[in-house]
Amino acid sequence: MKAYEALAAVYDKLNGDVDYGSIADFYEAAFRRAGLAPTLVLDLGCGTGRMTAELAVRGYDMIGVDGSADMLSRAFERKYDCPAGQRILLLQQDLRAFELYGTVGAVVSTLDCINYLTEEGDLDRCFSLVHNYLDPDGMFLFDVNTPYKFKHVFGDNAYILEDEDEEGGCYCGWQNEYDEKSGLCRFYLSVFEEQEGGSWRRVDEEQTERCYTRQALTAALTRAGFEGIEFFGNTDFSAPTPETERWYVKAICKK
Ligand SMILES: C[S@@+](CC[C@H](N)C(=O)[O-])C[C@H]1O[C@@H](n2cnc3c(N)ncnc32)[C@H](O)[C@@H]1O
Repeated sequence: MKAYEALAAVYDKLNGDVDYGSIADFYEAAFRRAGLAPTLVLDLGCGTGRMTAELAVRGYDMIGVDGSADMLSRAFERKYDCPAGQRILLLQQDLRAFELYGTVGAVVSTLDCINYLTEEGDLDRCFSLVHNYLDPDGMFLFDVNTPYKFKHVFGDNAYILEDEDEEGGCYCGWQNEYDEKSGLCRFYLSVFEEQEGGSWRRVDEEQTERCYTRQALTAALTRAGFEGIEFFGNTDFSAPTPETERWYVKAICKK
């Protein structure tokens, strides 16, 4: 199955412990530190729309872009349940070829969407579009899995993720294959979801992420026209350490 088909049904359950509120606090603190007050924000790779809804509730007009129809259909359900749902526009588009009707004050991209840009030139295509659709001095904030995480956490390891709620259980077997030379990490996922009546449905899915170094990300952002590039080791603006597993990156659009 294609990436984010099978996983869409259980994505929120498996990511139940992600603190979107803290990440949104970081985004807002970054805006304030730069003296920015964006009103329209693009959530690039919005997935099931958890960050999109979080920021809409905080008063931002939101555009969510994602390539997966299955993830977006979850985001649509969330939009209609969200008290600020009327602030959310959802678009099914590719991160490397998206089109908006105008510019936005900020672009955010949460939970390693940028690592899904795996082909030669993908990063440049995406960053140049982000630059194109940002207002002058607008802010781009994204996070990526670090080279340390690819090598020492994903590696060639296997993991089991499990969760259960009132709708039933779900269980995800996850095997990784990381090739340090190419920087590509393949994830082989087998998702088991409990159905009404107690039977289990199994769906397999394959995903690929690319590992980007700090130098490669900085060079691509610079080529696209960004300045003020900073890497943080967490949402508290702390400096990354050699064992940091996720970089939070901030860049300012210069025009
Ligand atoms: C790990 S999920 C993150 C989703 C969401 N931002 C969150 O915080 O939960 C990565 C998302 O990126 C999307 N994605 C990956 N590659 C893409 C591409 N080339 N174009 C559009 N969306 C893409 C996937 O469909 C998926 O929803």
